[in-house]
Amino acid sequence: MSARHPAAMRHAAAALRGLSLEVAAGEQIAVIGPSGAGKTTLLHVLACALPPSSGSLQLDGRNPWQLPRRSLQRLRGKLFLAPQSPPLPPRQRVVTSVLAGRLPQIGLWQSLRSLFYPTAIAQADAALARFDLSDKLFDRVDRLSGGERQRVGLARALVTDASLLLVDEPLSALDPTRGRQAIAALTEVARERGANAGLHAASCRHGAAEFPAHRRPARRRVGV
Ligand SMILES: Nc1ncnc2c1ncn2[C@@H]1O[C@H](COP(=O)(O)OP(=O)(O)O)[C@@H](O)[C@H]1O
Ligand SMILES: [Mg+2]
Repeated sequence: MSARHPAAMRHAAAALRGLSLEVAAGEQIAVIGPSGAGKTTLLHVLACALPPSSGSLQLDGRNPWQLPRRSLQRLRGKLFLAPQSPPLPPRQRVVTSVLAGRLPQIGLWQSLRSLFYPTAIAQADAALARFDLSDKLFDRVDRLSGGERQRVGLARALVTDASLLLVDEPLSALDPTRGRQAIAALTEVARERGANAGLHAASCRHGAAEFPAHRRPARRRVGV
């Protein structure tokens, strides 16, 4: 599979070239590579946000780009992508931001309405607790530190019912302790959901150290 950004210069090399990767259900993979290697591009392709320019992508045995529009939309709702810097609107409360993770499944109005129900708030609280952030539930996101904001973005993964978690550089703004905690929470949520796959992209700067030895067999080199 290869991928090229629509905005890329005509003669620029493809961001991904000759990539072949198979992810089994329940598998967790860390993609490690230097800046510009194509890690983010790979996650965008897997999230069906960017079509491959050659080769093909199969999710559950189907090529998502051959699905009817509505089915593709539905499928995208099952793919959770946490960007490296989550787009958090200013003045938004942390609770709203975390529950926004459920938008693809329940739609905007139901999501807004759910804010008034204690069960939704409890769900957000429980997700934040896994990232040591429960005291920030009603704080404004624009008053959080970079690392706290990153963890709010990751906490969204816990309120979705996505079958594939694509997490881009989840540790870039975290100290080692919080980094290990974040990986543990994400790993646990992927495991709790049983058959689902979790995929983390991490740059060279951090990588091997944060992914414990017992998970090493799940890692392998991919030609990114
Ligand atoms: N939006 C974009 N438009 C055009 N080219 C892009 C875009 N994003 C990334 N690229 C190209 O794809 C290459 C890989 O980028 P990226 O996937 O972001 O790498 P990584 O996440 O490993 O740092 C970059 O060198 C860049 O040239
Ligand atoms: Mg990147």
